[in-house]
Amino acid sequence: MKTQDVQEHFRVQVPDYPGLMRRLIPFYDQQRVLMRALIPFDRTTPLMVLDLGCGPGLMAAEILSEFPFSRVTLFDLTAEMIHVCKARLAGSDRATYRIGDFRTDDFGGGYDLIIASLSLHHLERAERPAFFRRVHESLLPSGHLIAAEVIVDESPEVRERQYELWQRFMIEQGEDGAAWYQKHLAKDHPIDISIDLGHVAFTGWLHSPRLFLALPQLRYHQRAPGRRLTGEWSRRRLNPERRR
Ligand SMILES: C[S@@+](CC[C@H](N)C(=O)[O-])C[C@H]1O[C@@H](n2cnc3c(N)ncnc32)[C@H](O)[C@@H]1O
Repeated sequence: MKTQDVQEHFRVQVPDYPGLMRRLIPFYDQQRVLMRALIPFDRTTPLMVLDLGCGPGLMAAEILSEFPFSRVTLFDLTAEMIHVCKARLAGSDRATYRIGDFRTDDFGGGYDLIIASLSLHHLERAERPAFFRRVHESLLPSGHLIAAEVIVDESPEVRERQYELWQRFMIEQGEDGAAWYQKHLAKDHPIDISIDLGHVAFTGWLHSPRLFLALPQLRYHQRAPGRRLTGEWSRRRLNPERRR
């Protein structure tokens, strides 16, 4: 999606953003609890944190409160989101704000922790390897990335079922599930786990403790009839070249 389209999409959501997210995203608030629980640093560490696609700053506010010696850079493409962050964190001298595009703009370096919550599905697939390399370089050697991604199953049947469940969830919250689903298909770039691991491995992270991958989206597993889940089968799923 073009930069201006992303900005416009989120600009109109700003006034009731957290409410809307709770109606669209299952376990929206619990995801942040999980992501914070994954932060592998002592709460008194003076952390340097970057929140990529920070939205209205809910996560940044929680990190600043839970880690009283941390400093957080809030980075987002949508100026209106950054305005809301400034209002939310008014008076904090530990927050820094940057309006920019994480695909192309510099987001600094020397971070202990980079957070990306529900923002990386705006990257096109081809943009992911270079993006992950830049994130890797922006982290200190002991740094961590914690990302909540939009991950779909590789099986078309299972994916269809996941999407049905998601639409049902949105309808139960009073939203037009079908319309949001169509918007998602048109605008987002969800990935499956093989693609994600492929890019992470490409960056050189697979066996490094730097990556914590949070998968908080609803996942639904169905065993294919007559198929045994063997090591070989799993490896083939992780390496598309070997599927043939
Ligand atoms: C779905 S919202 C998630 C916001 C927040 N992280 C949360 O969990 O509530 C995605 C955010 O990413 C921002 N965003 C999308 N593409 C971006 C890009 N290329 N560079 C920087 N921010 C981007 C949007 O402006 C929006 O605020």
